[in-house]
Amino acid sequence: MRYSVALAALAALASSTLGRVYYEETFSTPDSIDSFKATQARDDVGAIKLSRGKWYGNENSVGLQIAEDARFYAYSAKLKRPFNTKGKDFVVQFTVKYEQDIDCGGAYLKLLPPTLDPAKFDGDSEYEVMFGPDICGSTNRRVHAIINYNGTNEQIDKVIQPRGDQLTHQYTFWVKPDKTFEIRIDNKIQEEGKVEDFWKVLPEKQIPDPDAKKPEDWVDGPVMIDDAEDVKPEDWVDGPTTIADPDATRPEDWDDDMDGDWEAPMVANPEYKGEWKARQIKNPAYQGEWTAPMIDNPAYEEDEDLAVFNIGYVGIDIWTVKSGTIFNNLLITDDIDYASKFGNSTWADFVEPEIAAKKVIDDIESKKLEEERKAKEAESEAKEAEEKENAKDADADAEVDAEIDIEADAEPVAKDAADDVFDELDEDDEDKVAAEKKAAAEKLAAEEAAAAEKLAAEKAAAVKQAAAAEKLAAKKASKKKADKKAAKEAARKAKLAAEEAAKKAAEAEKAANEDDDEESAVHDEL
Ligand SMILES: *[C@@H]1O[C@H](CO)[C@@H](O)[C@H](O)[C@H]1NC(C)=O
Ligand SMILES: *[C@@H]1O[C@H](CO)[C@@H](O)[C@H](O)[C@H]1NC(C)=O
Repeated sequence: MRYSVALAALAALASSTLGRVYYEETFSTPDSIDSFKATQARDDVGAIKLSRGKWYGNENSVGLQIAEDARFYAYSAKLKRPFNTKGKDFVVQFTVKYEQDIDCGGAYLKLLPPTLDPAKFDGDSEYEVMFGPDICGSTNRRVHAIINYNGTNEQIDKVIQPRGDQLTHQYTFWVKPDKTFEIRIDNKIQEEGKVEDFWKVLPEKQIPDPDAKKPEDWVDGPVMIDDAEDVKPEDWVDGPTTIADPDATRPEDWDDDMDGDWEAPMVANPEYKGEWKARQIKNPAYQGEWTAPMIDNPAYEEDEDLAVFNIGYVGIDIWTVKSGTIFNNLLITDDIDYASKFGNSTWADFVEPEIAAKKVIDDIESKKLEEERKAKEAESEAKEAEEKENAKDADADAEVDAEIDIEADAEPVAKDAADDVFDELDEDDEDKVAAEKKAAAEKLAAEEAAAAEKLAAEKAAAVKQAAAAEKLAAKKASKKKADKKAAKEAARKAKLAAEEAAKKAAEAEKAANEDDDEESAVHDEL
C-alpha cells in the first residue's frame, strides 16, 4: 500500500517537470533491489537488502542497505535510458545514511559507461564519474568527485568533508553545460566553479614565455650592498693584532753573547678593533629574480568534451568494515529543478522527523544504558551490603561471646555490692550502737550475708549454666543467621537471667540489712 502511495507521489512529481530522468530509484517496491546485479568477477561480495534502518523520518522510505561487515560490494544497475551529458545539465544525487556510525567505509556511486559488462564489474572497471562520501578513520575523509577525462580518472583538487553522523544526508553533483559545477551536501553548496579549475586535466591556460630572455642589465643581485656613505673612522686600529709586550724588561742576567739579542715577548694588541666593515644597505638597483612573463599556452585548448559523460549504469563498488550504510533516493537527471523537488520530497521533508525519530531511539538506548548502569550499581551495592552483614554477624558473634564473659562476672559484682553494704554498716554501728548490739548485729548480718552469698552463688551458677548453653548456641548460630537470631535471643535471655540473679542477690542483701536494722531496733528497746 505505502509503496503505491510513494510511487504515485513521485509520478506526480515527474510529470510536472520538463527535464529528463535517466535513473531514479527510491526502492519503493520489494523487487526494486533486484535491479542491482552483483558482479560475477568475485564470489565474496557482501549481501545487500532493503531497509529503512532503525530510525527514519519517512516510513515509506526504504533504501538499499549494505548488509555484511568487512566485505567488498560490487553491484550495478542499468539506467532507464543511457545518458550522454553533452550540452546538457548533468545531475547525480542520492542519499546516504551511515546508520552504523561509520568507522571505515565508502558510500559513493560510480557512473559507468553503457559498455559495462555488469558480470565483470569490479574496481578496475572504467567509469565516468565517481561521486560520494568515503570515510576511514578520522583523517581519511572526503567526498570523492572523480571525473574521467580521456581515459584518466581525476579527483577534484579540493577536499570536501563528508557527513559522518548517523543521519541521512543528500549528496548532489551538478555539472552545467557551460563547464561549471556545484557540489552540494544537504542542498548546501560545498564547492562551485569552473570544472577545469578544479580538475587539472587540461594543459595550463598560461605558461612562462619560453622565448623570453633575461635582459642583460637585469640586476638580480646582490640583495645587500655596502653603504657608500659609511667611512672608516680615522682612529680605527685594524692592525697589528699582536705587539711586543711593553711591560717586559730584559732580565738582568741576560747575556747577549750567550742568549742572543733580547726581544720582548709578543702580546695581543689592546687597540686592535678587527677588520672594519661598512654598514649594509639594500641594493637600490636590485630587481629581484627574473622570471619569464606569462603567455597564453598555445597547447591549451578548451575541450567541449571536458566533463561530458556517457553513462549507462550506476554502480556501488565499495569496501566497508561495518555494515549498515543505506543508499537511497538515487537520481540521475538533466534537470536540477527536478532534482531539487525530488530531493525535497524524498529527503528534505523528512530531515526533522528523522532527527526526532533518532532521538527517541537514542533516548531509549540511553535509558537502557542508564538502567543497566543502575542495575549494576544496585548489584554491587547489594554485594557490599551482604559483605557488611557478614562482617556484622562476625562482630555479633564476638559480642555474644563478650556478653557471656560479662555475665560470668556477675557473681563477683554481686559479692562486691554486699561488701560495700557491710562497710557502711560498720561505720554507722561504731557511731550509734553499743559493742554488744554491734556484735549481735554482725552475727545476724553474717548469717544473712552468708544466705545472700549462697543465693548469689546459686544464681551465678545458673547464669554460668545459661551462658554456657548460650555460648554453645552462639557457636552454632555463627553458621546460620536464623540460628544466630535464636542465639541472640538466648543470649538476651541469659543476660536477663543474669540481671535477674544479680537483682535477686541485691534484694537478698537489702533484706539482710533491713533485718539487721530491725534487730538493732529491738536491741535499742531492750
Ligand atoms: C582528449 O582527447 C581529445 C580527443 O581525442 C583530444 O582532442 C584532446 O586533446 C585530449 N585532451 C588532452 C588534454 O589530452
Ligand atoms: C525545495 O525546498 C527548498 C527549501 O524549502 C526550496 O527553497 C526549494 O525551492 C524547493 N525546491 C523546489 C524545486 O521546489
